[in-house]
Amino acid sequence: MSADTAPNTTTQTDSIYLDNAASTPLLNEVFLEMMPYLRTHYGNPSSLHKHGFDARRAISVARRRVASIIGASDKEIVFTSGGTESNNLAIKGAALECRAEDSRRTHLITSKIEHESVLEPIRELEKEGFEVTYLPVSNDGIINPDEMKENISGTKTAFVSVMLVNNEVGTIQPVKEIAKIIQSTSKEILLHCDATQGVGKIPVNVQTLGIDLLTISSHKINGPKGTGALYVRRGVRINPLLLGGGQEALLRSGTENVYGIVGFGKACEIALSNITSNEREISIIRNYLVKKVLNDIPSARFNGSVIHRIPNNAHFTISGVNGEDLVMKLDEYGIAASTGSACSSRKQKSSHVLRAMGFSYDEVTGSLRISIGSQNTIQEVDRFVMILSQVIKELRKFSPITPRL
Ligand SMILES: Cc1ncc(COP(=O)(O)O)c(C=O)c1O
Repeated sequence: MSADTAPNTTTQTDSIYLDNAASTPLLNEVFLEMMPYLRTHYGNPSSLHKHGFDARRAISVARRRVASIIGASDKEIVFTSGGTESNNLAIKGAALECRAEDSRRTHLITSKIEHESVLEPIRELEKEGFEVTYLPVSNDGIINPDEMKENISGTKTAFVSVMLVNNEVGTIQPVKEIAKIIQSTSKEILLHCDATQGVGKIPVNVQTLGIDLLTISSHKINGPKGTGALYVRRGVRINPLLLGGGQEALLRSGTENVYGIVGFGKACEIALSNITSNEREISIIRNYLVKKVLNDIPSARFNGSVIHRIPNNAHFTISGVNGEDLVMKLDEYGIAASTGSACSSRKQKSSHVLRAMGFSYDEVTGSLRISIGSQNTIQEVDRFVMILSQVIKELRKFSPITPRL
């Protein structure tokens, strides 16, 4: 298939996709690189013949590309089924290994604004006897490293798990400062970082950040779904979750998702080479959108830190409307947006992130997250804001909530 006949990154030409924090369109170059591994190169990477060798070699190339985007060595990359599995592997794997090595290490630290795929395994460990400190955040959605200093214990703390970028409000967390506190407390304490929303959007280097375990997901950076990786710093020991053939350095068993891994590798290569230009261009579009929304919609308020923020995220509270109604109404006009994380919208839970930031019930209800991708344009933003303004007026006619202007 030539590049001309490959599907475009957007499927519906008149729709506007502004939910790139939930997932991103697959790039043509990524799709083309994956194609042979769906059809002609179908060998099992563990096989001892040419077909197996071809698949193995493709995985090695992808591993180097994934390692490069975070400044790691390829031997430190473990392929998984995505961000959720990487988080589970890092958290359960590290906690159980730490406790096995030293039975006093049963204290964990995380933040109140982590993704459910971090919080759920931590809650499970809590039920199994681990003690957990949930760090609070400021009204701007940022962890205060001093809070960590007060709670960390050189003898009891097993590991710390903090995200690099929050998936709802896009705030960048002070991971480097947190790493320094850990290093000055004890060499035994591990730092896991869920960088699912950061990798590919801002420069990430595991060496300079001082991270032991780091989560990446392919579909957030224009790669295929169902694949991701966990960076495991050389020398760090964790327990595997999936047992079997031990394909991924004995840390993750199962025949590798070869075409997914190939696509993930290509997506990392492209994201790394475009990171500076994308950061600049996407933030220009985001800043334009924020200005226009705040100017045209007086009941809109911008949430989260302005400075410590990912370039593609804009998060608003729209007073007097229900965020879910708003998202559904926007969809009728071909606009894809979100109230926050895709996973919690399915579970119909109010945002734990916004509650941790001290938002009132009404403020949480009226939330709208816009996340820009490299495919979006200024023209799309103009059309989006025009439709948003109209939709808000329509919803207000039926809303029992009075807008605070
Ligand atoms: C911060 C964060 N962590 C983890 C995940 C889960 O990643 P995946 O969809 O690859 O399982 C997401 C997905 O939205 C996320 O935003």
